[in-house]
Parts: sequence; C-alpha cells; structure tokens
Amino acid sequence: MMIAVYMFLLLCSLFMACIHCDPAQLCGNRCLCSSTHDQKIVHTAVCSKDFPSQLTHNISVLIMKNLGKTLNKDDVNSPSKLTKLDLKGKIKEIQDHAFDIENLKNLSVLDLSNNTIQKLTSKTFSGLNNLRELYLDNNNVKVIENGTLTFMGKLNILFLNRNYLTDIPYLPMNITKLQLQHNHIRTVNFHGQKLYNLKYLDLSGNAYDSIKKMEFLLGNHIEQLSLGDQILQIEPQVFQETKELKRLELEGKDSLFPETWEGIFQINSLETLTIKYIPLPPLNQHNFSSMSHLKSLRLIHINTDVQMKRNVFKQLVQLEELDLQGSPNIAQHIINTNVLLSSLSHLKTLILQSVGIKTFRSNQSELLKNLSFLDISNNKLQCDCRLKWLINKVITGQMKLKNPKQTICSEPASYYGYSILDSRVTYTLCPKDESTDTEATKIPDKARVTFYPPSTSPNQSMNSKTIIYILIALSTMVVILAVLLIIMIFRNWRQK
Ligand SMILES: *[C@@H]1O[C@H](CO)[C@@H](O)[C@H](O)[C@H]1NC(C)=O
Ligand SMILES: *[C@@H]1O[C@H](CO)[C@@H](O)[C@H](O)[C@H]1NC(C)=O
Ligand SMILES: *[C@@H]1O[C@H](CO)[C@@H](O)[C@H](O)[C@H]1NC(C)=O
Ligand SMILES: *[C@@H]1O[C@H](CO)[C@@H](O)[C@H](O)[C@H]1NC(C)=O
Ligand SMILES: *[C@@H]1O[C@H](CO)[C@@H](O)[C@H](O)[C@H]1NC(C)=O
Ligand SMILES: *[C@@H]1O[C@H](CO)[C@@H](O)[C@H](O)[C@H]1NC(C)=O
Ligand SMILES: *[C@@H]1O[C@H](CO)[C@@H](O)[C@H](O)[C@H]1NC(C)=O
Ligand SMILES: *[C@@H]1O[C@H](CO)[C@@H](O)[C@H](O)[C@H]1NC(C)=O
Repeated sequence: MMIAVYMFLLLCSLFMACIHCDPAQLCGNRCLCSSTHDQKIVHTAVCSKDFPSQLTHNISVLIMKNLGKTLNKDDVNSPSKLTKLDLKGKIKEIQDHAFDIENLKNLSVLDLSNNTIQKLTSKTFSGLNNLRELYLDNNNVKVIENGTLTFMGKLNILFLNRNYLTDIPYLPMNITKLQLQHNHIRTVNFHGQKLYNLKYLDLSGNAYDSIKKMEFLLGNHIEQLSLGDQILQIEPQVFQETKELKRLELEGKDSLFPETWEGIFQINSLETLTIKYIPLPPLNQHNFSSMSHLKSLRLIHINTDVQMKRNVFKQLVQLEELDLQGSPNIAQHIINTNVLLSSLSHLKTLILQSVGIKTFRSNQSELLKNLSFLDISNNKLQCDCRLKWLINKVITGQMKLKNPKQTICSEPASYYGYSILDSRVTYTLCPKDESTDTEATKIPDKARVTFYPPSTSPNQSMNSKTIIYILIALSTMVVILAVLLIIMIFRNWRQK
C-alpha cells in the first residue's frame, strides 16, 4: 500500500509539472532553456550568476539572475544573437561599453529594472543602436549624462520611474512612452527637446509645482499625461497644441491658479479627467461646456467643500463614470441634490467609496436608471427599507456592486458588521408588508439565494483547474490500484 501511495504522489507531481508546461531543460552551465510558440518560436534561457559561454540552443531571449554588483564589459557575453536581455540582481554599476558586443547589435529590449544602478554615462549603452524598449525603473539613478540615450533613434519605450533623478534627461527623439514618476524632479524642463512622437508621459510623484510652456514642449500626439504631486500652476498655453490629449491626471496639495483651471477646461479632446487632492473651484455649467467628450470624471480624495451650480454636469452628455472616492463633501453634495443627480441619469458607473454616506432615498434609484456599476464600500451604512431597492437591483442582476465584502451595515445593531448582501441581511431586511418599494415583491425566489455577485473569473478558473487536478489524481489512483490488484491476483495464481 505504501508503494501505491508513493507512486501516486510521484505521478501527481509529474503531472503538476507538466500542466504548467515548461519543458525547461539544462542547456548550459547553470542555465535552463525553454521555448514558447506564441506567434513565432521564442527560445529563452534563464541563467544564474555568470553569463553563459555556450548554450546548446539557439537563444533569442536571455534572462540573467543573481548578478553581482558590477557588470563588467568582459563578463557580458551571449553565445547567440539576442532580441531581449533581462538582467536581474544587485547591479550597482555598469562599466562603459559593457553591451558593445556583436551578438547584441540587434537587441531590442533591455530590462535593467529593480537593480541599484546609480549612474549612466554616454558610453553605458554604446552599441545598442537598435534598442526599442529600455527599462530602468526601480534603480538609484541620479545622473544620466547627455548622450546616454539620445543616439537610440528607435527607442520607443523608456521607464525611469522610481529613481533619484532631479532633472529630465536628454531623450531619444522618437520616444513614445516615458515614465518618470516617483523621482526627485523639481523643475520640468525639457531643455528645448521636441518630442513629437510622445504619446504617454507620466511625471507624477515629483516635487515641482509649476509647468511653463517654454520648458514643456509636448508634441501634438500626446494622449496621456499625469502630473503631480504638488502641482499649483500650469500655464494654459501648455495645452494649446495637445489636440489628442485623452487622459489627464493631476495631483496637488493646494488650490490651483485660476488660469490653470481655465486651461484645463479648454482641453476639448479629454475623455478622462482625474483630480486628486486638489480643492475644486466654484463650478457651473459653462466651465465644462468644452468637455463634451468627457467619459470619466474622477474627483478623488478631495476633502474641501465645493460650490456647484445645479446644472454643472448638464454639458457632460457622454459622461459614463463618476468616481468620488474619498471626497465626502462633493459626494454628499451631489447625492443630496436631485437636480444634479437627474443630469447624471446616463451614468453607468458611480464610485462612492469612503464618502461617509449612510443610505440612499429610494426615489434616487429612478434618477440613476442606467447605473450598472456601484461602489459604496467603506461607508457606515444604515441597513433599512431605504436600501431595499439597491439590494434588489443587485440580487436581480440589474446592477453590480463592487467590493461587496467591504460594503457593510453599521446600523441597526442586529446587522452590525454584515455585508449588505449577506443572507442574514437580505432575508430579513424590511419585510414585504412594510416595504414601500413595489419592486421588492417581485424578486423571484431563486434569486434570493445569491449572496454575492458571481465571483471573479480568475477564481473560477482556479476552481475548475483544481477540480481537474483532483479528477486526474483520482483516476491515476484508480489505475494504480487496478494494476496492483492485477499483480496480486497474478502472484496468487502463480503461487497456486
Ligand atoms: C538561430 O535562429 C536564427 C533566427 O532565429 C536562424 O536564422 C538561425 O539559422 C538559427 N541557427 C541555428 C543554429 O539554429
Ligand atoms: C541584425 O538584423 C539584421 C536584419 O534583421 C540582420 O541582417 C543582421 O545580421 C542582424 N545582426 C546581428 C548581429 O544579429
Ligand atoms: C520590481 O519590483 C517591483 C516592486 O518592488 C515589482 O512590483 C516588480 O514586479 C519588479 N519587476 C521585475 C521585473 O521584477
Ligand atoms: C545634449 O545633447 C544634445 C544632442 O545630443 C545637444 O543638442 C545639447 O546641446 C546637449 N546639451 C548639453 C548641455 O550638452
Ligand atoms: C523616427 O521614426 C520615424 C518613423 O516613425 C523614422 O522615419 C525616423 O528615421 C526615426 N528617427 C530616428 C532618429 O531613427
Ligand atoms: C467657470 O465659469 C465662469 C463663467 O460662467 C467663470 O467666471 C469662472 O472663472 C469659471 N471657473 C473656472 C475655474 O474656470
Ligand atoms: C440608458 O442606456 C440606454 C442604452 O444604453 C440608452 O438608450 C438610454 O438613452 C440611456 N438613458 C439615459 C437617461 O441616458
Ligand atoms: C424623493 O423623496 C423625497 C423624500 O424621501 C422627496 O422629498 C423628494 O421630492 C422625492 N424626489 C422625487 C424626484 O421624487
């Protein structure tokens, strides 16, 4: 019997290894190689400590792990022509010309993220003229010499987020995506560089407070821009040529200059506007009148009060998402003003996370007819008849509630700490005869057993995977037991 159990375990582990199908095999000193067949065959080697001098496969992607502190020119080696090189370790320094070798001439992706590199010189990347993507995020880079990057005419993507840069480096002219968030940049100055192909720029999490047109020359292809986190002033002219800007995110600590708001309200290509922490100016319908393409308005973590005229959202005819998480004053102002709500009747998503609301009046459901996605988590909810309509909508599948486990009753005491979709709440909340909401009587009995909206798909696929494992394990066991039985019968028969 012990043997059977052992065999069973062995087979199981073999099976598990095969399911994650990584036919990795030793292909050199401390190297594992594998192939994937997505679109074309990609041969990948994962090696530890030292660059391989020889590999049995024709490798195009090399991943080096556990590299030491200094990357010396003589150590870098690739036995075959690479398209992607990924260097992980504690690299602090890269010697000049380290990558200047024949087999790296066509390298298109170099990943140096999560090391401790401090300095990049004009010779660090020499030879890598064909690089398209360079990842240097999560390092300690303070200085990037002029000429370090400018010669890479094909570079599209550059990640420099989470470093110690104090200035914007000289950049390759064809760059399309640039991440510079979480550095120590105090003045945003592009030194006259004209980045006509730039589409995506993230400058958030830096300490500058103003942006001037003369120093900030964006081409007219910019689509996404994140600025912050201490922004006070942006010259309106900065947005003069940004005809394709679709997403703008601003984070600050204090009120913006009035001209800055005026400039922002002029950007009529915007589809998503995110304002974080910045107090809002008094708003009326004229302020949003140029923003007819706006689909998502996110006013988050704003603690100050706001003066909004009743028709402020009237011009935002395409608005689908309103996110007010962490902004209690704004949220309460909007929720308590039916006229405001009625101008939002086309809204599909409403986020009211952590805004201190306790309930909704039931006739407000009529005002938000098209709402299909609601988040009221992290509030102290009063679970009584007034929430019945909401629970019914979720149970009958007309609306999805985000974060149901954090959507919790605070009152009455008998429901304290229960999710509003907990069966103990949904079964007993507001018995039918007391309910003023006629819809409440129409819920099909079957629907009442739903506690939570359908679980997310990753969980489901996990579950079905586990079921397959169990089924296969069980059938393997049956086969093994059958074989053992046959052997025993055979032995008995021979002894006789
Ligand atoms: C290695 O791969 C390249 C292209 O991926 C191909 O041109 C070359 O013939 C291959 N060499 C060997 C030895 O398989
Ligand atoms: C680089 O790519 C070009 C064309 O794709 C090819 O002709 C050349 O041999 C390659 N060079 C190296 C060093 O891989
Ligand atoms: C780098 O580190 C960050 C967090 O420290 C992690 O989220 C990220 O996945 C890492 N990247 C790589 C390529 O290992
Ligand atoms: C940096 O390099 C660019 C072009 O490579 C050049 O136009 C510019 O003047 C240089 N700046 C400095 C400060 O050396
Ligand atoms: C930039 O890209 C364009 C096409 O997208 C190309 O014609 C041009 O040569 C590139 N510039 C450099 C310096 O490679
Ligand atoms: C909003 O519009 C009014 C005119 O109706 C204007 O006086 C005010 O300055 C605008 N506010 C902002 C922040 O642009
Ligand atoms: C609600 O959505 C439907 C279909 O998506 C649309 O036809 C209708 O006009 C919307 N109602 C409002 C008030 O926007
Ligand atoms: C909604 O109900 C409140 C009382 O709960 C009432 O004051 C208000 O006029 C009603 N609004 C509409 C649009 O029916």
